[in-house]
Amino acid sequence: MAAEMTPPFTWADYQEAAAAIQAHTELRPRVGLVLGSGLGALADRIQDSVAIPYDRIPHFPCSTVHGHAGRLVLGTLSGQPVCAMQGRFHFYEGYTPQQVTLPVRVMRLLGVETLILTNAAGGINPGYQVGDLMIIVDHLSLVAMAGHNPLRGPNLDEFGPRFPSMTHVYSPQLRRLALRVARAQGLELRQGIYAWVAGPNFETPAEVRLLRQLGADAVGMSTVPEAMVARHAGIHVLGISTITNMAVDELDVRTEPSHEEVLETGRQVLPRLSQLLLGILEQLYQPDPTGPDTTSGP
Ligand code: HPA
Repeated sequence: MAAEMTPPFTWADYQEAAAAIQAHTELRPRVGLVLGSGLGALADRIQDSVAIPYDRIPHFPCSTVHGHAGRLVLGTLSGQPVCAMQGRFHFYEGYTPQQVTLPVRVMRLLGVETLILTNAAGGINPGYQVGDLMIIVDHLSLVAMAGHNPLRGPNLDEFGPRFPSMTHVYSPQLRRLALRVARAQGLELRQGIYAWVAGPNFETPAEVRLLRQLGADAVGMSTVPEAMVARHAGIHVLGISTITNMAVDELDVRTEPSHEEVLETGRQVLPRLSQLLLGILEQLYQPDPTGPDTTSGP
């Protein structure tokens, strides 16, 4: 597979990509947004925006999935300077985990300190329902644990240490902020563990039962590698899953998940998710009225 022969990106490669983006705009984003399947429409609300197609940025792969637009949009959203990925890269497309996560490191070089990752996920927790929103509390990086780790290979010390801690991948403070904003909006949020699988197939019923036994509340094909690379680079991460379908855990059923269902639920949830994200962006970098968080960093 061609992607597996891609040599590791160097510090200079990341800088080249960042410089190409900076040539398009003066804006220096502080917040990164990755918009998952069916959620890309939020980027259309970014003001004074500059959109750069991925194929115009050195080293960026091109998004191949239906429902993912494939461009970087920089501008202002809820008063914050943001850089949004309208469409992301997935391992199942044939890209290496390092290619999948290239934009996160480039965002770091652009000045991003906070990264909000969204995704579509299958519900594993039997208490969940289609259309639920879930704050990611922790993850099972099954693909990385099996060897496809985005941090594998020479470590770039400029970004972070060789052996980074993954104890607090998802910032407790950002999770608290999301819950506070949701409460004010009358929006219910789940809090759960997201399992990263390679895809592109949906899981078998036996696999769904296995994931449940492992402690997963939701399953999906993205987000985790980006979160790991962001954490390595000292970026504060918030992850939000839309439960677009319930993962099927028994053989004796007529329903099967489909990409159409995933996109359709994403569309239906988009207004609620947009409200939440806009509210979070508004409050970001404001003092926390409930006092400082002592659990760990931001
Ligand atoms: N499984 C894996 N990935 C997904 C699913 C699912 O059921 N739904 C959306 N992304």
